[in-house]
Amino acid sequence: MPMTIDELKQKIEALTNELQSQKALTETVKNQYLGKKGHFNILAKVIAQIDNQDKKVAGQLLNELKLKLENHFSNTTSKKQTKQIDFTLPGLPQDVGHLHPISQAMEEITNIFEKVGFTRVRYPEVDWDWYVFESLNMPPSHPARDEWETFFVDAPEPAHDLTYDAKEPRKRHPSLVGGKMVLTTHTSNGQVREMERLKNPPIRMINIAKCYRRQQDATHTQMFHQFEGLVVDKGINIQHLKGTLDYFAEQFYGPGTKSRIRPFHFQFTEPSFEVDFSCHICGGTGKKNGEKCKFCKSGWHEVGGAGMVHPNVLKAGGIDPEIYTGFAFGWGVERTYTLKEGLNIDDIRLLYSGDLRFLRQF
Ligand code: PHE
Repeated sequence: MPMTIDELKQKIEALTNELQSQKALTETVKNQYLGKKGHFNILAKVIAQIDNQDKKVAGQLLNELKLKLENHFSNTTSKKQTKQIDFTLPGLPQDVGHLHPISQAMEEITNIFEKVGFTRVRYPEVDWDWYVFESLNMPPSHPARDEWETFFVDAPEPAHDLTYDAKEPRKRHPSLVGGKMVLTTHTSNGQVREMERLKNPPIRMINIAKCYRRQQDATHTQMFHQFEGLVVDKGINIQHLKGTLDYFAEQFYGPGTKSRIRPFHFQFTEPSFEVDFSCHICGGTGKKNGEKCKFCKSGWHEVGGAGMVHPNVLKAGGIDPEIYTGFAFGWGVERTYTLKEGLNIDDIRLLYSGDLRFLRQF
C-alpha cells in the first residue's frame, strides 16, 4: 500500500517524540533505533512506497531523522568506556626476566676472584685429549682417566705416536701430533692453554666453563659448570692456596665460613687435596640443637679438588718447574651454589628443567 509523504512525516514526528523521552544512552537502546533492524531502517524502507515526485523530500526527511538519531546517541557510552580507571592505583608489576641462577653464580664467582687480581678466561668446551688429559700428566690408557666419565667426539683421529715421553710431554701437542677430541670433563683443560697464552708467569686465571660427564642423578647432570683457578709464579706454596680458599669461602658463603683441605690424589697436582667448606647451618660443628646436623652430617661440605701444580704440567705448558711453582683448584658451580645458605635445592636437575615456577624464585 503506497504511503503519502504526510503519513511519513507523521511517523517521523512520532519517532522523534518518542526519542525525546528516551533518556537511557546505552548500546542496547541505540541499537533499537539505529541498529540493522532498528526503527530507522524499518521506516526508511517505506521510501519505496512513496510517490516518485515526493521521493526526494522523503529522502531528505529521513536523512534529517538519521542525523537527529545519531546526534542523540553520540554520547552513548560503550561497555568498555564505562569501566572507570583509577589513575591513583599502583601500576601492575611488569614481568621482567633475569639471569639464570647459575649465570648469577658464575658472575658472583668471577667478581670475587677479579677483586684479587685473577683474570676470567674461557677455553673450548670441546677440546683435544691433550689439554683435557695428556698435558695434565695422564698419558693415554692411564687408569686415572677413568674417573672422568668422558664423552668422546666421533671424529677421525689423526695418527700419532703413542709413546709418551714424560720428560718432553710437549712433543705430543696436538698441533704437532694430533689427538682425540672430547667434551671437556673438567675445566683443567684451561691450565696448559693459559700457560701457552701467557707464556711467562705470573698467571692468575679463573676459568669458568661447561663440562660434560656420563652421569645423571639428583646431584649430577650430564652438562654442568666448573670453575678452575690457576696461580703460577715464583715462590707460590700451599699457604697461598689455603689463603685463597679461605678468602673465597668468606666471600661466597659469608663471614666465618672456613675451608679445609684433606690429602687426595690427582695426576696433575702434587700434593693434591680435597676441599671442604664449613657448614653454615651448624657453624662447622656437625651438631644442631644437640642432634647431628641434617644438612652436612659432619660440619663440612666437600666441594672439589685442589693442589700444587705437578711439574710435568708446568713443563707441558712450557714453564720451567725449577723456577716457578703454582697451585690449582677446581670444582662444580652447581654444587658450590646449591650449598648457599637458604637455597635448599635438593635436586640440581631442577636448574636445567626450564621450569619457570622454579627459576623465578632466584
Ligand atoms: N679437575 C679436577 C676435577 O674435576 C679438580 C681439580 C682441579 C683438582 C684443579 C686439582 C686441581 O675433579
